[in-house]
Amino acid sequence: MVYDNIVLIGFMGCGKTSVGKILARQINKNFKDIDQIIEKEQGSSVAEIFLSKGEEYFRSLEQKCINDLTKNTGQIISTGGGLPIYSSIAEKSLIVYVETEFDVILNRLSAKERNKRPLFNDEPSARALFNERIGVYKDLSHFSIDATQSIQTYLHVLVDYILDQRIL
Ligand code: S3P
Repeated sequence: MVYDNIVLIGFMGCGKTSVGKILARQINKNFKDIDQIIEKEQGSSVAEIFLSKGEEYFRSLEQKCINDLTKNTGQIISTGGGLPIYSSIAEKSLIVYVETEFDVILNRLSAKERNKRPLFNDEPSARALFNERIGVYKDLSHFSIDATQSIQTYLHVLVDYILDQRIL
């Protein structure tokens, strides 16, 4: 099966942007990060958008952004953790779940990184959100990578799969 794009999903801080950038470079494709595109278009950070216009407005921007992006092909697209919960993703996308445990994310994210994320305000509610969402991530994805390990350890598994299956 050939897909139009590869879409990376997973909880906040699981490493979607980092792995997406490296993957795109390795297989020579364009990398797109939805949060970064929204921030650029709006001229403000995700946290500011949540604060001034609210989460619902941000979700509508996410849906529009992924719709626009998936009109093109051959891209690696990194999504925000809530995008697959609230938005639909074009059918001909290979959805890859960047899977980690909550405690791994907690250890990895600095206070600064947490502050950028309005839904990571406090640990118990972020943990509850994680538990609510993992089922959706699992159900939606065609392929999962175990991102509990370092990117170097798991990246080749994904690259081999993409090349073997002639995904893009
Ligand atoms: C969100 C995740 C964030 C960002 C926003 C909301 C979420 O992106 O889109 O803060 O609902 O999980 P990352 O997954 O890149 O942190």
